[in-house]
Amino acid sequence: MKVVIPPIKSQGIKTKLVPWIKDVAPKVNGRWIEPFLGTGVVAFNARYKKAILNDTNPHIIRFYKSVQERLITVPLMKQYLENEGKLLREAGNNGYDHYLTVRARFNSGEYSPFDFIFLSRAGFNGMMRFGSKGNWNIPFCKKPDRFAQAYITKIVNQLSLVSQIISPKPDWQFYNKSFSEIIPLATENDIIYCDPPYFGRHADYYNGWTEKVEALVCNFDANGFAQHNHGVKEKVKMRQLELDLEYTYKYKEYGK
Ligand SMILES: C[S@@+](CC[C@H](N)C(=O)[O-])C[C@H]1O[C@@H](n2cnc3c(N)ncnc32)[C@H](O)[C@@H]1O
Repeated sequence: MKVVIPPIKSQGIKTKLVPWIKDVAPKVNGRWIEPFLGTGVVAFNARYKKAILNDTNPHIIRFYKSVQERLITVPLMKQYLENEGKLLREAGNNGYDHYLTVRARFNSGEYSPFDFIFLSRAGFNGMMRFGSKGNWNIPFCKKPDRFAQAYITKIVNQLSLVSQIISPKPDWQFYNKSFSEIIPLATENDIIYCDPPYFGRHADYYNGWTEKVEALVCNFDANGFAQHNHGVKEKVKMRQLELDLEYTYKYKEYGK
């Protein structure tokens, strides 16, 4: 299966899990709901006609909304990356000066989705991290020729694919809210895929989770999981927990 890779980079990207997720996700005729969208790789490959996609990171959502509204197109992105790539190549301090210019421009409140892609692709190790005021605080990858023609072509091809997959409103809806406001939007025909921030990972401005809980929560029977091993050598032991609705009801009723 050829996996569509989105133009945003992030260390938590689930590219390798996509075939597995596609196999186990039941084929529902409702919406694909993803409260923790991240790069969007899972949603873009799940290919549901209707989707609700959300993230607390406003830059991710602004970027994909701009793609949806055709404010970001392949020719515009290509031109932007060629210009900025040239400035980076010619900048002092082996390109670092221009990286800092773009980062300062972005952090000044411009938050251009084009600059977001620049920072995402020219930042150290493909990391995405924000400081205490929501400022992009990743250093430069130290490659002045980062935006060589072949790399620009790769990025715009990724953009081209996701622009073809993202359907116009109202079929695909993007939100910049907390997951707790998104999950109640689900109805019985929808599927919710949740990939919250990881336990033990760096917590930043948009990733404030500190709770020590890790779980895969399914609203469908997960007993078939063991059949889908996708190249993993040793089968992982899965244990399906059941949601005790009676308990949940009592818990709510007595406010305990
Ligand atoms: C593990 S990443 C998702 C990765 C994604 N599945 C991918 O493959 O790219 C978790 C995402 O949750 C977002 N997030 C953190 N706290 C959130 C919250 N309370 N509500 C919604 N999104 C949140 C983060 O900004 C981050 O993009």
